[in-house]
Amino acid sequence: MNEKINFQLEESELPRFWYNVNADTPVPATPVLNPQTLEPVTPDFLSVLFPMEIILQEISQERYIEIPHEVREIYKLYRPTPLKRAVRLEKALGTPAHIYYKNEGVSPPGSHKPNTAIAQAFYNQIAGTKALTTETGAGQWGTALAMACNFFGIDLEVYMVNVSYHHKPYRRVMMETFGAQVFPSPTDRTEYGRSLLAKDPDASGSLGVAISEAVEIAAKSNGTKKYSLGSVLNHVLLHQSIIGEESLKQMEKANEYPDVVIGCVGGGSNFAGIAYPFLRENLKRGKNTRLLAVEPTATPSLTKGLYTFDYGDSAKMAPIVKMHTLGHSFIPAPIHAGGLRYHGMAPSLCALYDAGYIQAVAVPQLSTFEAAIQFARSEGIVPAPESAHAIRAAIDEAVDAREKGENRVILFNLSGHGNFDMVAYQDYFAGKLKDYEYPDEAIKKSMELLPKVNL
Ligand SMILES: Cc1ncc(COP(=O)(O)O)c(C=O)c1O
Repeated sequence: MNEKINFQLEESELPRFWYNVNADTPVPATPVLNPQTLEPVTPDFLSVLFPMEIILQEISQERYIEIPHEVREIYKLYRPTPLKRAVRLEKALGTPAHIYYKNEGVSPPGSHKPNTAIAQAFYNQIAGTKALTTETGAGQWGTALAMACNFFGIDLEVYMVNVSYHHKPYRRVMMETFGAQVFPSPTDRTEYGRSLLAKDPDASGSLGVAISEAVEIAAKSNGTKKYSLGSVLNHVLLHQSIIGEESLKQMEKANEYPDVVIGCVGGGSNFAGIAYPFLRENLKRGKNTRLLAVEPTATPSLTKGLYTFDYGDSAKMAPIVKMHTLGHSFIPAPIHAGGLRYHGMAPSLCALYDAGYIQAVAVPQLSTFEAAIQFARSEGIVPAPESAHAIRAAIDEAVDAREKGENRVILFNLSGHGNFDMVAYQDYFAGKLKDYEYPDEAIKKSMELLPKVNL
């Protein structure tokens, strides 16, 4: 059979607007709280960390927000990204299902993260920001922001989770190539970092800790530095909606419509990016696509976490939001999907999951790598360990369709390539990787430390 594989868009078809799910969501937003007062945050509190345009996007109810010309011009370096049908994977699985994937791994840093990094650097530049701070886990976010800051002439300090700093040295070098400074977190540059190093000089760190350090540096900079976050917040999910908007047009070119849309979830931004435009079609046009978020069994925020108010970071400096959480004191198992090791999840996604508009599944590390390798051997792309979670679920859907004899149409987001993740693959081939189940007991214990919110 001579099947069509590529469904490409012209540069002129690059979407002009981001989609804001808050205009259509059937579940109302819960307030974001100040971590000191436990009262709803004021723009004054947020303006220490973020420029005003980002704050306005964070609370916006506008359905469509225009993508600035300067941002679109940089998007053109890698967008529109390819949407492909994984015909060789379908054959390998012997499934009647059609499997499509959106390849965000073609961006220069290798993931979906520049979609928001470029926008955030732009809004900071027009607000006069000279320097930004941020955290990074596996390094994808840090690299994306380093590239974007370089384009807009902004200095960048990256607090990189200690264990990843050592696991992924080339990510650090790539950030430095773009001109960023990278520090293994916890560091001795912050009060919080010093307090952790005093207890354990070899602390492996976590995203929650790295966020605290980046926030502390910005908050104590007397306005000379702002902070940038790579996931979780509304404005980040907004910028990622370009993934789903392009996918809708590309599926139209393929003359098919997905029965299920799948993405991995760390803080929720690449999943929301591909899924929310399809959710809009469900809500507004009577479509019936299942939206499936995939997380590791080692960090099961959606499937096992409590839906409650919690701090966004370990040092309780970032705002409190209502989300599915494993507790801000959560120290994750050392799984290789560094970008999925966060204790919480985007509040809008949690509300939609809680109300049944979105489904979630947790998959273990070993079968995730099996899926990654099957995909690499069929399609020729080595996926990021994070993205491999979406591949695991897509393969499971395709096998289920085969068993039920269904012509299911599956679309998943390939959020990044794994070319800098070879240590993870090496460890897998050497039989060094394990599965981790996050124990219920640990979740119960960390819930004792939740903020006492009375709303
Ligand atoms: C390749 C890749 N996919 C997914 C994620 C998870 O983030 P999010 O849930 O915000 O998309 C990350 C985070 O670093 C990542 O690097």
